[in-house]
Amino acid sequence: MVDMVEDETAFYTKAEQYWQDVAPTVDGMLGGYGSISNVDINGSKKFLQRFLGEGEGKTGAGCALDCGAGIGRITKRLLLPLFRTVDMVDVTQEFLDKAKTYLGDEAKRVDNYFCCGLQDFQPESGRYDVIWIQWVIGHLTDEHLVEFLRRCRGGLRLGGLIVVKDNVAYEGVVLDEVDSSVCRDLGLVRQLAQRAGLQVVCEERQENFPEEIYQVYTLALR
Ligand SMILES: C[S@@+](CC[C@H](N)C(=O)[O-])C[C@H]1O[C@@H](n2cnc3c(N)ncnc32)[C@H](O)[C@@H]1O
Repeated sequence: MVDMVEDETAFYTKAEQYWQDVAPTVDGMLGGYGSISNVDINGSKKFLQRFLGEGEGKTGAGCALDCGAGIGRITKRLLLPLFRTVDMVDVTQEFLDKAKTYLGDEAKRVDNYFCCGLQDFQPESGRYDVIWIQWVIGHLTDEHLVEFLRRCRGGLRLGGLIVVKDNVAYEGVVLDEVDSSVCRDLGLVRQLAQRAGLQVVCEERQENFPEEIYQVYTLALR
């Protein structure tokens, strides 16, 4: 990836500009694939539920952080139903503004809307039971992703969990010039997580997505 992103500033600026022109809708969040949102959320719920509950090693249901949250598609359907409160972080202010109406009455359980790039975001120490990072890691350089994941580790409560759900390339790294992102293969994502001091405790391929899109994997890290 080092060779691919020659100008780091331009890589981030281009992505910000790209998202500023995207409609604040579920379809916009999913690049025109709004129809896969239900399958995605149901798969995520099943994945996450195995970690939740009472007892040793289980993840609490206090507060979750939605990273690259957009308008709150995941906050609304996955996180607010499972956690008492949610914080959202995204680089696009318009999406966070939209979230306040998109989430409806339940928006009152969103404690914080942080408008910030994940490369600069510092999660509050020990605050989160789950940090959910979906369809956004490709917008960070390798180094920034490692540093961000390391900061996320510090943001976890006891028993807390980081979940990365994202597109995965068959081999190597594929650059998308349009939205200014990269798609990494699974081995590389695992390596970067390890460099952040995290272990993969569970890994699953999302089933029933359209054939023509990238494979999507969910990784639980702690
Ligand atoms: C493909 S959308 C996914 C939104 C949401 N995770 C979902 O699955 O519905 C990518 C989101 O990442 C945000 N984003 C892009 N680059 C970012 C960055 N460097 N830091 C934080 N958010 C970023 C965009 O504004 C957009 O909301």
